[in-house]
Amino acid sequence: KRPAGAPDKSLARKVTKVGIVGAGLMASQMALLFARRLGTPVVLTDLDEERAQKGVDYVHGEVDKLLAKGRVTSDKANRLKSLVTGSADKATAFAGADFVIEAVFEEMSVKKSVFADVEKVVSSECILATNTSSLSITEMASELEHPERVVGFHFFNPVAVMPLLEIVKGEKTDDATLATAFATGKGLKKTTILVSDSPSFIVNRLLGRFLGEVAKAVDAGTPIETADAAFAGVAPMPPFMLLGLVGPAIALHNNETLVKAFPDRFYVSPLLVKVVEEKISSFYLPDLTIDPKVKALQV
Ligand code: CAA
Repeated sequence: KRPAGAPDKSLARKVTKVGIVGAGLMASQMALLFARRLGTPVVLTDLDEERAQKGVDYVHGEVDKLLAKGRVTSDKANRLKSLVTGSADKATAFAGADFVIEAVFEEMSVKKSVFADVEKVVSSECILATNTSSLSITEMASELEHPERVVGFHFFNPVAVMPLLEIVKGEKTDDATLATAFATGKGLKKTTILVSDSPSFIVNRLLGRFLGEVAKAVDAGTPIETADAAFAGVAPMPPFMLLGLVGPAIALHNNETLVKAFPDRFYVSPLLVKVVEEKISSFYLPDLTIDPKVKALQV
């Protein structure tokens, strides 16, 4: 069944090579998914060779886990490893790519400059997709020569497991781009939905409200353990554990985008701000107790 709002699939262009800008955790998880489900070469790029290689190493480690679980044969594992490569040189890496997705820092100016750079080295029909979780696709495309090939392609963490993919149409996104995005999402075996180009789209807007309400309770004195325990059996992952998975900096950015757009509806937690300032990446220690550094910030 065609997802609501998706154009006719006959308009979709074939994807034979994928480029990824950024080789962090989301980018590397995406690289594995593209290689595994589409069987295409995937090139991870980053600011230097070392970072790009780190992404490739992550993919190889995940492939080894799949092999150990018997989810892939050793032939398939070797093939997957050979499909995913890394480079710091976008011009060479993206030669012949027909689908490039960025997963860099969640900042409009950074993403705009990434797309401007990529546009110089790819064909005019190459899709420029963004994994942004909150920023405007229309604005991101606004200074490009071909804004019609820009589309939001928003995965959820962990990419391999979460079924949903939000596809975001910017003002100028054309039907061929949108059809290619839906066909690619289907090839990746994701549930695709078309969402409008509004702050944080659907899922993160709802999540921002939910996590904001829980954070308010914690900022008012509820222990984090209690707030998380309250959701046992209700949510797949308790709220503060989820904040650690998403990453406090990304969650804060999402909240700030939402507060800017809807000041009366969203909330920026002072605790979350302090956790990000202190560069703490999780509320929990590996033994699943709350990090005492977080507790110290609460008073
Ligand atoms: N990478 C790959 N696979 C992973 C993984 C990861 N990081 N984490 C878990 N998995 C896999 C496991 O390998 C396991 O697979 P198998 O069944 O094949 O062995 C499966 O997921 C289940 O894992 P576990 O049994 O270890 O644990 P679980 O049942 O508690 O599930 C979870 C883990 C899927 C992460 C679950 O806790 C969950 O759904 N949490 C909520 C996640 C969520 O809401 N994500 C969205 C965040 S918002 C976001 O991402 C948007 C944004 O832009 C910021």
